[in-house]
Amino acid sequence: MSKKLFIETLGCAMNSRDSEHMIAQLREKEGYETTQTLEEADLILINTCSVRERPVHKLFSELGGFNKKKKPSAKIGVCGCTASHLGEEIIKRAPYVNFVLGARNVSKISEVLHKDKAVEIDINYDESEFAFDDFRSSAYKAFINISIGCDKKCTFCIVPKTRGDEISIPDDLIINEAKRAVGKGAKELFLLGQNVNNYGRRFSSDKHEKVNFTELLRRLSKIEGLERIRFTSPHPFHMDDEFIEEFAHNPKICKSMHMPLQSGSTKVLKEMKRGYTKEWFLNRVAKLRSVCPEVSISTDIIVAFPGESDADFAETIDVMKQVKFDQIFSFKYSPRPETEAQHFTNVVDEEVASDRLSYLQSLHNEIMDEKNATLMGNVYRVYFEDLHRDGYVAGRSDNNLVLKVKGSEELLGEFRDVKVTAIGRTILTGEVVA
Ligand code: 5AD
Ligand code: SF4
Repeated sequence: MSKKLFIETLGCAMNSRDSEHMIAQLREKEGYETTQTLEEADLILINTCSVRERPVHKLFSELGGFNKKKKPSAKIGVCGCTASHLGEEIIKRAPYVNFVLGARNVSKISEVLHKDKAVEIDINYDESEFAFDDFRSSAYKAFINISIGCDKKCTFCIVPKTRGDEISIPDDLIINEAKRAVGKGAKELFLLGQNVNNYGRRFSSDKHEKVNFTELLRRLSKIEGLERIRFTSPHPFHMDDEFIEEFAHNPKICKSMHMPLQSGSTKVLKEMKRGYTKEWFLNRVAKLRSVCPEVSISTDIIVAFPGESDADFAETIDVMKQVKFDQIFSFKYSPRPETEAQHFTNVVDEEVASDRLSYLQSLHNEIMDEKNATLMGNVYRVYFEDLHRDGYVAGRSDNNLVLKVKGSEELLGEFRDVKVTAIGRTILTGEVVA
């Protein structure tokens, strides 16, 4: 009988892919199968995120809960970004944890499994050419890492300290991985990196051809049987015209762009070390919309960064009103260890921060209601990938709208034209018309 692995994944798509990589290694090399039942697991992994403050005590209380429920012989491993920055402290505070594996050390999962109390968190470790075994949680969409780490030094962000410097994965490895996934039936690729459009700046050795992100997109789009390419996250600073033109004119690239604004105030952007101004951001949106009018644009916004005045916040609101984003991920600033901004003293009052966040979110909801009202009766090409329990099947349009129709698993992995018949804030209902 195979051993059982219970894995909880928090955080971003990068973490989800890291979990897939760990599952792949544990299946192929160690004979594990995944389970949803903690009590029957022989190995329990938590793949943590530390980008915003998830109180550390929450991690420890969760670990305590796992320790009580687990089989006596089961091992517990803490992985991901919080593992990277807390390291040994995790084992000191929770001695029943068997190993700690950082976000930059995923390929060492088999190794740490067999060494009690191992702590592998080296952020200079280079696994950009490691050949992971194949495992994907979706048969329809393949997540593929194109780089590891991040070279930026945004003052609020812990990621460069948990995932290290940026190293691109050689394009031939990416293309081979993509071909394998498409060969197994995935029609969509989802390329992942902290800063995808900085791809190609540094490889682990100089024997690799210096391909940039635009060229990588061109090469990938030639794969036969591949229908769609998505990616996250691009950085507004690196959105040159060549990239935007390729995005607009390459029919396999989905017309949905994530453009993390963070703040609309040039002064705050400078404090954040984002490398662009409000005007540059708006200029890139205008360029993008001029060559690709159908594009949907999503963003990340941080409110109440240290020193953010009412006037600075008003600049963010101004950008929101001008751009009318299709989706926002908005957060209150949270000071993170090992970042520059944690030492900034001009902290914004908690109440002001909450008010700003709720104002911003209600403005976004108003914008979305207005936009959504115009979608009724429109027809979108949908790629179906999720079976819901209530007799619906859901998928995404090219420009990232989520649509569901009545149907069964026959629709999974298929493209259909869907006409919108009912509007919801996050999901539209429709009927298949062709
Ligand atoms: N506080 C609040 N939000 C943060 N993010 C990253 N670091 C912080 C922080 N310290 C947000 C940014 C980023 C997203 C992934 O998380 O908006 O784009
Ligand atoms: Fe963090 Fe900035 Fe890198 Fe994004 S680009 S991961 S916000 S340092």
